[in-house]
This record gives sequence, structure tokens and C-alpha cells, in this order.
Amino acid sequence: MTDFIDTVSARSAPLVVFGASVTGEIVLSLLDILKIQPSFFCDNDPRKRVAPFHGYKVVSRERLCREHPDAIVVIAAGRYFHEIKRQLTQAGFTDVFSDADVIGCVDLENTPSSKLEKIAWHLAKLGKLPAVGKGLHLPRLDVVVTTRCTLKCRHCSSLMPYYKKPSDADPSRLMRALDRILSCVDQIAHVELLGGEPFLDTNLPAVAQQLLDSGKVLHIDVVTNGTVVPPEKELVALKHDRISVVIDDYGRLSKKVRPLCAVLKKQGIDFRVNRHWAWADLGGFKSRGRSPQQREKLFARCNFNSCAELLDGRLYRCPRSSHGTQTGTIPDYPSDSVDILAGPRDKNSLRKKLKAFYYGKKSIRACDHCRGNTSDSLTLDPAEQNNRSKRQ
Ligand SMILES: C[S@@+](CC[C@H](N)C(=O)[O-])C[C@H]1O[C@@H](n2cnc3c(N)ncnc32)[C@H](O)[C@@H]1O
Ligand code: SF4
Ligand code: SF4
Repeated sequence: MTDFIDTVSARSAPLVVFGASVTGEIVLSLLDILKIQPSFFCDNDPRKRVAPFHGYKVVSRERLCREHPDAIVVIAAGRYFHEIKRQLTQAGFTDVFSDADVIGCVDLENTPSSKLEKIAWHLAKLGKLPAVGKGLHLPRLDVVVTTRCTLKCRHCSSLMPYYKKPSDADPSRLMRALDRILSCVDQIAHVELLGGEPFLDTNLPAVAQQLLDSGKVLHIDVVTNGTVVPPEKELVALKHDRISVVIDDYGRLSKKVRPLCAVLKKQGIDFRVNRHWAWADLGGFKSRGRSPQQREKLFARCNFNSCAELLDGRLYRCPRSSHGTQTGTIPDYPSDSVDILAGPRDKNSLRKKLKAFYYGKKSIRACDHCRGNTSDSLTLDPAEQNNRSKRQ
């Protein structure tokens, strides 16, 4: 593939970032390191186009195709990359790059760490975060604070509708499990606090505080479905330059997006609103009889393969594995998780286990019970409700 920098230097065409969202912000930071300025942004979501994005105009794909068919485009849209690339290629664009192509042009080893801090979690996810020393660096840890939820999404990847007795995480077990993980890692680049609906759990601020106090976590996202506005005094604890609230906006279902944004703004808490286009159809739970090689192939392509998740004292590799095991919809495969609370007592053994779990696994047994979250499984309308079950 032609190098991104070569193309930008060789051509005088406009440079467009496709995706006015968090990955767009990351690409903007990377371009800044490369001393390149984009011309404007593009986004398929009309709501992203009502105001400038970090000072840049945001246009529709139709307008991009009509007015700038010669543009160089960087797609900054995470799991929608393949779909957008298909749309642009069909429209005749030839110089189309990804966020990873831009990262590939940055001399990460020699970039001041202050410039990388905000984007560290993304770099870690792509396996590009330069390691500091020889320690144990975890790219990501998702922490399930509750299995209660205000919605019943039929295709929830965290299987919330399958819980017969949803509940908040036991605060002392969660604290002990986090303590054990934090004591043996050197850094965690990105933590997501989620559920269910994390704002239903009043222990959420304490969990965030414990992570911050460790001094080992670069960034925390609290992922909410926009249906709950917690009391302002609880939100104050989230006011920190390492914490963002990510509001998944499921349209009419996310009834509290506006008041939530207003209160977060008032409190000076960083937040962003995510609109979903399509969800992955992870399929049924029956074994597909896949060979280890077939599982490895699927695991390598799955967008959830980096979402290691702590649930009730055990660490799993993805939400399908954690919640599938907990709800009994997937068999409990011992090799698919690390028991943090009942596992090795001494730090070094746990550290070794974590290292192997994060860096030594090519697949998990749960992949035999799943279609995966891949570019060709993004076929569902997000957050379709399961009306047959009562709401929590
Ligand atoms: C399980 S939810 C928990 C947080 C919160 N309840 C929410 O919905 O934002 C975590 C993330 O998984 C995403 N998600 C749920 N089901 C999905 C699916 N089938 N495919 C892709 N993403 C999914 C949600 O959109 C959300 O961003
Ligand atoms: S809002 Fe939907 S996707 Fe999020 S946890 Fe609840 S049921 Fe799952
Ligand atoms: S394919 Fe494997 S890693 Fe991906 S969601 Fe399914 S079980 Fe998890």
C-alpha cells in the first residue's frame, strides 16, 4: 500500500478525515504530530454535521463525493472502516487510508509522551503503544460494575437479557479483584466501566477513584446508554482529566441524552456521544464444532478480541465469553478465564498468568459458540428491544 505521507506530499488534493468521533480525534492528534492539517471532516451521521468538529467543517459523504472526488481520505471510524471504504471505493476514491496507516507514519518511540497520553489507549489497542521498560502493560480492561440495565437489547453483546437475577458487583469483591490486578501490572492504557447500565450502580465513583489512585491507568471511559442521569454529587467524582463519559445514543430509547449532556457540561466532565449504525450479530450459542485453527482465524478478525473483561472476580477475553459463562449460555471453559480472586496468591505468578492471558492467547474456546463481531457481521439494527421480557 502506498505510504500515507508519500501520498499527502505528492498530491495537492484536500485531506479529509472520515469520522467526526473519537477515532477522528485520535487521527487529528496523529496528524498534529506529523505537522499535517486536514482540510475538513466528513461523517455519515447528520447530527455530527451541525457544528464544527474541533474547529473543522463536517460535510456529508454525498457532498464529499460531489465536490472533492480527488480527496485523500483517512477513515477514522473503527469497526465501520470496511463499510466506509467500500462506499468510497465504489464512488471512485483511490487514496483511502485508515487510522492505522497514519499511526504507521508516526515515530512513536521519539514522540514526547505528553503528546501520546490522550491517544495511548488507541495505540495500545492496535498494539502500537511503545512499552515503557519491560513491565506488564495491559492495553485494555473492561470492568463490569453491574448486570442491571434499563434496556433489554435483544442482541446485547453482554447478554443482559439472559440474566435471571441481575445485580450490582459486590463492592468488596470488585475492589479486591482490582487491587490484585493493579498490584501486578505496570500500566493499563484504557479502562471501560460498563454494565449493564453503569449509572445504576452507586459504587461507580468509588471504582473510578480506586483506578485513578493506583496511578497506573491512562484513561477511563464510563459507557452509558443515555437513560439515566445520576445525582450531581455522584458525578463530581468523575470530573478528572483521565475520565470520559461515553453516551451511546440509541435514539428514542436513550431518553436522557440531553439532560445528561447538560449536567456533564455543567460539571466540566468530559463526554462524547456515540451514534451506532449497526451491531454485530454474534449468533446462537451452540457449538459450531470449529477446529482450533478456525477459532484462531475468527478470534483474529473479531473486534471484541481486545475487550478483556473483569466480571465477578474473573477475567475473560471478551463480553461474549464473560457473560456467556456467567449466564450458562456458554460452557465454563477454565482456559478462557483467569480467576483473579481465587487465583495465584503471589504477585509474580498472577503477573505471569496475566501476561500469558493477554499476549499468549490466539483464541478462546468461546469462539466456537459465536459468529464474532467482524466487518461482515455488522448487520443488526442497534438496540432493538426484547419486548417479551419485562424491563428491570
Ligand atoms: C454492553 S454495552 C454496556 C454499556 C451500556 N449499557 C450501553 O449500551 O452503552 C457496551 C457496548 O457494547 C455495544 N454493543 C452491545 N451489543 C452489541 C452488538 N451486538 N454489536 C456491537 N456492539 C454492541 C454497545 O453499543 C455499547 O457500546
Ligand atoms: S443498554 Fe442494551 S447494550 Fe447496553 S447493556 Fe443494556 S441491554 Fe446491553
Ligand atoms: S468470536 Fe471469540 S472473541 Fe469474538 S466475541 Fe465471539 S467469543 Fe468473543
